[in-house]
Amino acid sequence: MTLAQDRESYGGMAVVRRVANLRQQVAGWRRAGERVGVVPTMGALHAGHMSLVEAARRDCARVIATIFVNPKQFNRPDDLTGYPRDEAGDADKLAAAGVDVLFAPPVEEVYPPGFQTRVSVPELSNCLCGLTRPGHMDGVATVVTKLFLMTGAERAYFGEKDFQQLLIVKRLARDLDVPVEVVPVETVRDGDGLALSSRNALLTPSQRAEAPVIYRTLTAMAAKLAAADSDAAAVLGWGRSELLAAGIEKLDYLELRAADDLQELPRPDRPARLFVAGWMGGVRLIDNVAVPLGR
Ligand code: PAF
Repeated sequence: MTLAQDRESYGGMAVVRRVANLRQQVAGWRRAGERVGVVPTMGALHAGHMSLVEAARRDCARVIATIFVNPKQFNRPDDLTGYPRDEAGDADKLAAAGVDVLFAPPVEEVYPPGFQTRVSVPELSNCLCGLTRPGHMDGVATVVTKLFLMTGAERAYFGEKDFQQLLIVKRLARDLDVPVEVVPVETVRDGDGLALSSRNALLTPSQRAEAPVIYRTLTAMAAKLAAADSDAAAVLGWGRSELLAAGIEKLDYLELRAADDLQELPRPDRPARLFVAGWMGGVRLIDNVAVPLGR
């Protein structure tokens, strides 16, 4: 495929699949002095993703959205094959939101034969989702590093819902001197508090009705910790029982950790967050909230 052929158009938005073509496009914007932002995604876009796009549009003259279902961050083959995909629907949403380029490369463009490099941020990865999904965080770090280098964007937008991922991405950009500013964007929630996720669509109606217990419990725990400056163990025990009594079948973790380095904390005596991952049927849901500093 020539560079000229690698350019479909979607209501004013270009769809680009090859890195060389993307770089050519970005070089033109840079020459014109335009700031470029990137919103990396795996598609199946919902309002949470679109809030990242809106933040990028506010800050940047040009916005690239990427859609790449990254095989290296899936530790279960069935999770990768079952991951929701709807490129045409996603392209409609991105074009309507004013995205300039959708970069949607095929797997071999990102991982050509013989690919062996891995980016790893071990201390931030050896807990929470990094423990329960072995290899996941290295897969994320590797592909995000590649997307930063491929797009050459000056700003990159990531949701706080994947807070551990956000910290890892910030750290790799700092450690590897990637000239990108990582911009955090607040979690978007449904009216009942459930954090938006592509996986919510897999819940049955009764699971969906019960799922808001996750955010309800986290916010109640955060308030207890802030009010009493208490030992986290009792509050975590209370939270576990609440969740398991209200439709969460299994917890991968429910933990209090520092908001900067993810150290586990016995009490919230520095900026902290509560993190949870739990299962409803075959669906794994994650969330996190900030804990206000105690008295
Ligand atoms: O959060 C996601 O959708 C993915 O982990 C990301 C950042 C696009 C990397 O594949």
